[in-house]
Amino acid sequence: MAMYRAGDWNDLDQIKVLGVQRELTDWYGKNHRKLPWRETSDPYYIWVSEVMLQQTRVDTVIPYFLNFIEKFPTMEDLAQAHEEEVLKAWEGLGYYSRVRNLQRGAKVVVEQYGGQVPKDLQEIKKIPGIGPYTAGAVLSIAYDQAVPAVDGNVMRVFSRLFCIEDDISEGKTRSEMEKIGRVVVPRENPSSFNQGLMELGALICTPTSPKCIACPVYGQCCAAQRGIQNELPIKKKKQAAKEVQLEVALVWNDDKVLIMKRPGDGLLASLWAFPSAVREEGWEPGSNIIAVLKEEYGIIVDDINYVFDAQHVFTHLKWNMEVYDCKLSSTVELDYPQIQWVTLDEIGNYAIPTAFMKVLRKIDGG
Ligand code: ADE
Ligand code: SF4
Repeated sequence: MAMYRAGDWNDLDQIKVLGVQRELTDWYGKNHRKLPWRETSDPYYIWVSEVMLQQTRVDTVIPYFLNFIEKFPTMEDLAQAHEEEVLKAWEGLGYYSRVRNLQRGAKVVVEQYGGQVPKDLQEIKKIPGIGPYTAGAVLSIAYDQAVPAVDGNVMRVFSRLFCIEDDISEGKTRSEMEKIGRVVVPRENPSSFNQGLMELGALICTPTSPKCIACPVYGQCCAAQRGIQNELPIKKKKQAAKEVQLEVALVWNDDKVLIMKRPGDGLLASLWAFPSAVREEGWEPGSNIIAVLKEEYGIIVDDINYVFDAQHVFTHLKWNMEVYDCKLSSTVELDYPQIQWVTLDEIGNYAIPTAFMKVLRKIDGG
């Protein structure tokens, strides 16, 4: 059975491409969901929405998007905001490097581009945090430019439409898919076309059980004609998340508990959390967190008690958290900004990642 392989995109049937363009654009116009970022063509709002949508579902994004643009209504507001405040507005969305890059990008646009998101593909890609996907999404949706915007959903749709059997978990497949995108994105109404591809991937051409009989491009679809839509795209199993035992300390001082600001790089950078330490195989439970509290923060605890477990799964990592109540033995010099004593009510003022929110909810009696 002939399948397309990387490289032969000029062979794409022009009649078929025209059909896909027409059907998809038309279908999008009639069927798209009303979403807050579709009420505007302001490039800043489109940019914010696309960054949020990269790893998060539409339903989850909506309230975050509305809150974010209320807090930071213009790019200048975002550029000038305190990082703490920006992280707080992102709390719970995860992948916090996205919002740090977004703010860095906003600063660059304000300082170097007079506050105007560049309209030129090469220029826009120079902005921190704007890769090929975001560049294509912003240029096509905000500025109506015929630039493709290829994310994982669009790769799934392309692999089925054109029977492409390249492994979509490989980086080189993405650049091939972008070449296809450049061939198929129409000069006329590229915004509706690109959003139509995203919408098709979200509503019809879903990862499992695609709804081919309701699909506007059924007539053009290679996979549906061959009945192989459930076998595409090809995606090698991703490796299982690595498991880590993490000791987490609740250091109490009356009704206040200690939180610390995590380092500026690495996992969950610059967010507030309870102190924690990895327990390696064979180490005595609780011993490393005592050592880390002492060595890194000068905090001496004399009595620790295991209280409960919590789990959190990141993309490539699973934390098995063992939570310990720790009794402070000597009040030490804790007058530096990376450490705060807060009541459970005050914790709400800090940007706490979801992994530690799970711990917090269990303390709260959840
Ligand atoms: N996923 C990525 N971009 C999107 C958008 N603009 N609308 C809906 N879902 C999306
Ligand atoms: Fe996807 Fe089916 Fe539509 Fe083909 S016909 S694009 S497999 S939903």
